[in-house]
Amino acid sequence: MEDREQQALSPGRRLTDEERALVWIKPLSHKVSEEERRICREVRRNWNRGEMKIANILLEGDAGSGKTQLAKALSADFGLPYTKVTCFADMDKTDIIGAILPVLSSERLDRLEPAEQSALKALYESDGFRSATDILTDALGISYEQASVKLKQLLKRAASVADGEAVEYRFYPSEIVRAYRNGYLLEIQEPTVIRDAAVLMALNSALELDGAINLPTEIVRRHPDFIAVITTNRGYAGVRPLNEALRDRVQHTEKMDLPPKAVMIERAIAKTGYGNEPVLDALAEAVIVLDQTARANAMKGVAGMRSYFYWADAVAEGVSARESLYHKVVYKITTDPDEIKLLEDALRGSGLLARLDELPAERKKKRTMTP
Ligand SMILES: Nc1ncnc2c1ncn2[C@@H]1O[C@H](COP(=O)(O)OP(=O)(O)OP(=O)(O)O)[C@@H](O)[C@H]1O
Ligand SMILES: [Mg+2]
Repeated sequence: MEDREQQALSPGRRLTDEERALVWIKPLSHKVSEEERRICREVRRNWNRGEMKIANILLEGDAGSGKTQLAKALSADFGLPYTKVTCFADMDKTDIIGAILPVLSSERLDRLEPAEQSALKALYESDGFRSATDILTDALGISYEQASVKLKQLLKRAASVADGEAVEYRFYPSEIVRAYRNGYLLEIQEPTVIRDAAVLMALNSALELDGAINLPTEIVRRHPDFIAVITTNRGYAGVRPLNEALRDRVQHTEKMDLPPKAVMIERAIAKTGYGNEPVLDALAEAVIVLDQTARANAMKGVAGMRSYFYWADAVAEGVSARESLYHKVVYKITTDPDEIKLLEDALRGSGLLARLDELPAERKKKRTMTP
């Protein structure tokens, strides 16, 4: 990407060392896409245009199409720290805002389970830079959702042990508040799953350009550099669509599909280091045909970029394309015999089965096993 596009959005801004460590660094395998160029252009064009500013972005489309990587790439392009929240069905206000925890004396702390003690201690010892869920995720080696559940249990337990006595309370902001207050790029993954309407409302009002979040301790204003990137799979049967009001807050949207064949090949080369283009071309075409057929017949799974990478990698290692087709792509779409037949017919109809059979097998690589 051109130099101009790698410039920070707010050139006067100084990041702390911790913040600088959150700015994504593009790996060599990263390929700049049309979508990335367009978003960069749009955001820069309107950055200093007041109400016309573009700072809420929606990336909607297929699994594996590169939504998360695009959000990260924007962090690199704009020089903003990258952070994310993974939404889940039972998210509540605590997950949006943060948690207030009593600071227990060591005597009271002793009344808790050892696991609870170490979780609370990890929180007390934190410097306030990271969010509570982030600290618990690390300290306990658990997922974001588990950390959120844990935090709520801790809130209850700590309150019962504090027993109404006058203790000091400390506020631990959520990941959202942290990004919002300090001006980071926040990826909000799959907010479609959130069930509680009040939580959606809170998220919504936070996304206003001149919005604010009401904390128990203060009112936090939206930092001028805060960029929200909502990433979601397109609503297919059984999946709720993105909340209308939330959708309406978005100022730029990209439809993310299986990328064009040339881009698929380019990414596969970058990812697997395998450069046999005629082979990669045949595999890409097969994935495209399978993807279309799966959709046209409303099958449960799809053929996406991840299937393509793993298939290409297997072929690069000497596995036959025809055999690994099933294990890396077809069975991921469906294991229903009738549906498999439909997929095979589609491949045969476009001459791809024959093409796959004719591909020369790669010589099996001798792998040096690392102990
Ligand atoms: N621009 C790119 N250049 C090279 N590789 C890419 C690029 N974008 C995505 N990829 C690769 O494609 C794979 C899927 O990307 P990513 O995780 O961003 O998809 P996603 O759309 O967020 O998927 P999901 O819907 O499952 O969250 C990753 O292995 C990633 O490294
Ligand atoms: Mg993703």
